[in-house]
Amino acid sequence: MNNFPSVFEAINDLSKDQIEGLLILARKFKERDHDKPQFPNKLPIVANSFLENSTRTKNSFAIAIKRLGCHYLDFNTETSSLNKGESLEETLLTLYAQGVDLCIIRTSVSNQLSEFKNNTPVKIINGGDGTNQHPTQALLDLFTMQEIGIELEGKTMAIIGDCIHSRVGHSLCELLPQFGCNIILCGPSDYVPKTPEYEGVEISNDLESTVKRSDFLYTLRIQKERHAGSTEAAKHYDTYHDKYGISRDKLKAWNKEVPVFHPGPANIGVEISTDIIKSSLYKGYDQVVNSIYMRMAIITAILSNNDKNIGIIDGTRIRD
Ligand code: NCD
Repeated sequence: MNNFPSVFEAINDLSKDQIEGLLILARKFKERDHDKPQFPNKLPIVANSFLENSTRTKNSFAIAIKRLGCHYLDFNTETSSLNKGESLEETLLTLYAQGVDLCIIRTSVSNQLSEFKNNTPVKIINGGDGTNQHPTQALLDLFTMQEIGIELEGKTMAIIGDCIHSRVGHSLCELLPQFGCNIILCGPSDYVPKTPEYEGVEISNDLESTVKRSDFLYTLRIQKERHAGSTEAAKHYDTYHDKYGISRDKLKAWNKEVPVFHPGPANIGVEISTDIIKSSLYKGYDQVVNSIYMRMAIITAILSNNDKNIGIIDGTRIRD
């Protein structure tokens, strides 16, 4: 894959060719014919650095790293010098000097990784930054949609929920329209932008008409941890399931028993009902399965990009 970036922060860092290349590579990993160590000479060291909570993303990266035969470093931020006031750049340069080749970073600070794009302490994959981007989630979602046979060109997907505060939503809005898929962002007015921010993306506050126009649905958790006590955001909590929750009854009544995606963690009984989660309409577990293969593809692409401008201080590379 040509010129894969060394800091993969956002969907827009990739060309359509690179995205297609990742989809092919993820499929090959899934078919198992490439599921063996990729790096015969020197095994890369990959660190997982999650500065914010995570279950599935952290584990999925850890498994992908191990399946590729790389050395795995669980960089525990609670006990690291980041807690003693060291900057993230210093920490990353130190990890690089110790031999780490790639760091997966999750942070609650939006855009925290963009400063490293021109001055790269170590190769970086964004595992989700604040409300900004979660590009590997969007790519594994695209892979899953293709795997279950959804032809995206000319289709419409509804993203239902707390779209403003969802980094997954933002990455999907940058990715799926590139494959000809229209998106409707649907939720209460405090959870969706006033006007569309992306090409191929519309806004709606009406669930019934949105679902009726959609070929498949993507549900999002209410991101309470990002509401910072906002009374506008909180006023929808109690009524959310009735008004915007996706249930079997609603989909039956609207004659729209279509695939339902969710990045997890799902709040069952809020944005999605148990009868959807237990049904074959629910694709959340397919997303988890495919997360391993897409992340194996992304890690392989970034480790193979031959970028020599990593870990440079005053023009000198701090390690070979
Ligand atoms: C998402 C995240 O962390 O942004 N989850 C995930 O990575 N699978 C979505 C969420 O937290 O609601």
